[in-house]
Amino acid sequence: MTRIRDIYADPDKYIGQTIDVRGWVRTRRGNKHVQFVALNDGSTIKNLQIVFDLGKFYEEMLKAVTTGSSLHVQGLLVASQGKGQSVEIQAEEFEIYGEANPEKYPLQKKGHSLEFLREIAHLRPRTNTFGAVLRIRHALAYAVHKFFNDKGFYYFHTPLITASDCEGAGAMFQVTTLNLDELPLTENGEVDYTNDFFGRQAALTVSGQLEGELGATALGCIYTFGPTFRAENSNTPRHLSEFWMIEPEMAFYEIADNMDLAEEFIKYCINYALEHCADDIEFLSEHFDKELVDRLKFVVNNDFVRLPYTEGVRILEESGRKFEFPVYWGVDLASEHERYLVEEHFKKPVILTDYPKEIKAFYMKLNDDGKTVRAMDVLFPKIGEIIGGSQREESLEKLQARVDELGLEGMDWYLDTRRFGTVPHSGFGLGFERLVLFVTGMQNIRDVIPFPRYPNNCEY
Ligand code: 4AD
Ligand code: MG
Repeated sequence: MTRIRDIYADPDKYIGQTIDVRGWVRTRRGNKHVQFVALNDGSTIKNLQIVFDLGKFYEEMLKAVTTGSSLHVQGLLVASQGKGQSVEIQAEEFEIYGEANPEKYPLQKKGHSLEFLREIAHLRPRTNTFGAVLRIRHALAYAVHKFFNDKGFYYFHTPLITASDCEGAGAMFQVTTLNLDELPLTENGEVDYTNDFFGRQAALTVSGQLEGELGATALGCIYTFGPTFRAENSNTPRHLSEFWMIEPEMAFYEIADNMDLAEEFIKYCINYALEHCADDIEFLSEHFDKELVDRLKFVVNNDFVRLPYTEGVRILEESGRKFEFPVYWGVDLASEHERYLVEEHFKKPVILTDYPKEIKAFYMKLNDDGKTVRAMDVLFPKIGEIIGGSQREESLEKLQARVDELGLEGMDWYLDTRRFGTVPHSGFGLGFERLVLFVTGMQNIRDVIPFPRYPNNCEY
């Protein structure tokens, strides 16, 4: 069996040979002498043209060769005389694996809307658009591992079921085997979790960072790459309830090292896609976003702006712009503010640093001003926040004070990193789907993951 991508990668190797291809029919057209089938096997955006000579095959035999049906074709690969393809197969033998009733198969026409395709997300991987997105998604995942592996980072597996709330936002999905209709109660009338599966309350993780810090303070440099769950009721084109996050964590890195790594990492991933997914990116650019390739190259070729939050707020205040949400020092910036800085003011990605401690997580290192923390958010055109990270508070005393102030419980294991051989360290989290969104130029995060989860949707 030959995969179509291999044929296009080196057509001369196959021309003049009888080969074997298998895939799904995208279209069939022709006349009473000859029929042309565009076959796609998922290995590339490009279809392979199969030519059926009706001197050799009866039209009746091709009746079930309709859009969506699956075929096995054997034939001679020849240079094509027709326009639009360089090679084609002259069918000698074929077999239909599975028919796709044209009356019922929903993917008949080209150009279904993305909204419609979201309703049949179980079939949409078979469209050109989703094929392209999913191949790019794969390439980016591979690039993530390659980047860190080549740098000597270790892939560290943090638990998905956890008892700690890293980000402190309280947006966790509880994991329980208790019978919700008949909850065991304590004397005070509270749920008695000692009877639950883990003997305590548990939830799906919102971030692997805290456990990642244990890895970094043992192995030096680690990264995590896994699913993350957030029960926020955010119905936006940039939020999922289940998304994948990459979280590197590095011992002995200060905030500037952290920013350097984040910038290098994200540029590496984008470059990798530009080099390895040219056909798919070109397809998406043609159909959805003409400026896509320029935007990707621009980001790769320019330094990101590095700017303290306080400066960013000043620029927003002085912009004269009427924002939907007011801007003032201390506010958690909204997407419109982030995008103003990136798309209109600097026209470049921006790394915003030194945020007020009140709007950031408890583990961030406090600056000498006592008001701001060593946070860094990387803000991207079209996306807004793509990375969130910080230098971590390495002082046991200061971290303990913050934990007490916020009334966090069950943190003793985490504080051990500061109790025993504490070191300056830093890390960040990249939302994988936000990266895929940026690289594909798609508009909605629900279209860059095969089976999206969001409020009121848990199909498949
Ligand atoms: O800024 P966040 O919440 O940071 C953390 O979780 C830290 N523990 C990371 C670290 O320092 N190790 O999330 C990191 C990134 C965001 O910048 C965003 O790209 C993505 O995760 N993200 C989401 N992506 C999709 N859907 C959501 N609901 C997301 N929430 C965050
Ligand atoms: Mg964040």
